[in-house]
Amino acid sequence: MIYLDSAATSLQKPRAVYQAVQKAMQSAGGYGRSGHRPALYAGELVYACRENARRLFGLQEPEQVVFTMNATHALNQAIHALADAKTRAAITGYEHNSVVRPLVERGIPYQVLESRLFDSNGMLQAARQALEDGANLFVINHVSNVFGSIAPIAELDAMLADAGVPMILDASQSAGTLEIHADKLRSAAAICMPGHKGLLGPQGTGMLLVCSEKLQKPLMQGGTGSLSQDMTQPKLLPDRFESGTPNVPGIAGLDAGLRFLLARGLSRIRKHEQMLAADLTDGLSTIDGVEVFYHADPARQAGVVSFRHAKMPCEILAEKLADRDVCVRAGLHCAPLAHRSAGTLASGTVRVSFGPFNTRREVREFTGKLCEILEKL
Ligand code: ALA
Repeated sequence: MIYLDSAATSLQKPRAVYQAVQKAMQSAGGYGRSGHRPALYAGELVYACRENARRLFGLQEPEQVVFTMNATHALNQAIHALADAKTRAAITGYEHNSVVRPLVERGIPYQVLESRLFDSNGMLQAARQALEDGANLFVINHVSNVFGSIAPIAELDAMLADAGVPMILDASQSAGTLEIHADKLRSAAAICMPGHKGLLGPQGTGMLLVCSEKLQKPLMQGGTGSLSQDMTQPKLLPDRFESGTPNVPGIAGLDAGLRFLLARGLSRIRKHEQMLAADLTDGLSTIDGVEVFYHADPARQAGVVSFRHAKMPCEILAEKLADRDVCVRAGLHCAPLAHRSAGTLASGTVRVSFGPFNTRREVREFTGKLCEILEKL
């Protein structure tokens, strides 16, 4: 099998991830609820993961790390906590439905920072205009889950911090690949990410990094194992946003993923994925009828690449690849806005996405199998 769908979920994980999940399932009791050995062990596992996340993302305190089910959960929580009746949101043209739907559902007015694919200057100009128009909450997609385009985060952050406007950073495709230093992002109020993609943890894990005391309102209330005499939700972090028993086996696996990333170093992973993306785009560019969406400067492109073929619908192409045991994702990738911005809404695209365990040989084999399919047209 050639697995090229890490933007959906990384399938190849470090062995330690599988082992940690199993060990936690066999040994961890109720997190934060009792003083017996299995419960204390659960506490140690969860704390270790918070601490490693703090290290990887340059946070001040481990308590700023809130565990969620996935990035969607974290984004819903961040939007719920930050938006009120006066909110006028601005979002990039590359946001996922996990941002657009929570805004629409809550009736929060938003404007889209219209910019062409890979046009950082266009995005910055649109952001300046949105600030002038009165936008007071920005949600910024760091890396497009469809095209791998990287938003100009440093510039946007400086602009928003100077204006005193908070940013929610959707790091769904960048966490585990690109450096994210929460302490250097002056406007970031919240950073949201899944555990099951670049962080190499299990599905059903995610994190909300709380970077501002502006985040007060929890999505859910319930038992936290703390201040149980109070009928109201504790204010302290992370309990403010963590009600109910967490996914301790998942968090143990996520911790093993974080340890792997800290040991290997993100710059090495990034270089590897850049090399694979360059090999892929070189290969795809030579195939007749294939339109590949990529940035010529590898610094502006993450390990996610989309393409389409003039004569074969994307879903059919992905199906034919799946028949040959090649795993990619086709269609709109839950991000119709990104496709609208790139002009691919009608066709969708076939998306190839890499993880640290993919190889150059797999990319060559992928291109070979694609040519085989297209030759039969
Ligand atoms: N958001 C995920 C993807 O892009 C699931 O495939």
